Amino acid sequence: MTSLHWENAYLSKAVEERSWSESGDSDALAELLASGISKHDAVIDIGGGSSTFVDSLLRNSFENISVLDISGAALSEVQERTGHLGTNVSWIVGDVLSWNPPHPYSYWNDRAVFHFLVDPTDQQNYVNKVREATKSGSHIVIATFSLEGPESCSGLPVQRWSAEQLAVLFAEFCTVVSHTEYEHVTPWGSKQSFMRLHLMRK
Ligand SMILES: C[S@@+](CC[C@H](N)C(=O)[O-])C[C@H]1O[C@@H](n2cnc3c(N)ncnc32)[C@H](O)[C@@H]1O
Repeated sequence: MTSLHWENAYLSKAVEERSWSESGDSDALAELLASGISKHDAVIDIGGGSSTFVDSLLRNSFENISVLDISGAALSEVQERTGHLGTNVSWIVGDVLSWNPPHPYSYWNDRAVFHFLVDPTDQQNYVNKVREATKSGSHIVIATFSLEGPESCSGLPVQRWSAEQLAVLFAEFCTVVSHTEYEHVTPWGSKQSFMRLHLMRK
């Protein structure tokens, strides 16, 4: 997976041409609001791209927000959109697998990023990164294509997951809070089956 692929995806396609775009609040918002974390807690959106999740967090007065993405173009787009409201957001251009977390986060959100890791070594590196970037009591929410979801996204192969399969990777240091199956409707009206797993760090 290269940063070039994602730079190109954001630079060459408009919002409504990207299958993962959501209109309005991200489907990740309700999960976060229900978690009971405080507005001061550190929240990170992993592979946030130009998702509206950060807009929703800013509107809900969250104060300690980070968005990490391998594509600088995606983050520039969302920075432009959020304007002065986003000036206190920590915008991090980088690969989640090689990033050094500066401090532990209370809430780790990943919508449609982990499933691009099809190599078991990369998957294990991601799990290690979650461990490094969180602390006891942190929430970890990961949404991937479900077993019924598409086999590729943005021209890249993905690995589809059930909640049970994904939970096994984190079992050593996380308990399962909940899991949900749902459908994302692309901007052109097709449906994609997703699974969201909500974990808590032991
Ligand atoms: C399908 S998009 C989802 C974007 C966003 N989470 C959303 O829900 O709209 C996948 C995102 O993951 C980012 N990405 C892919 N691989 C990454 C990596 N290794 N590290 C950080 N970001 C990555 C891409 O640039 C892209 O923004």
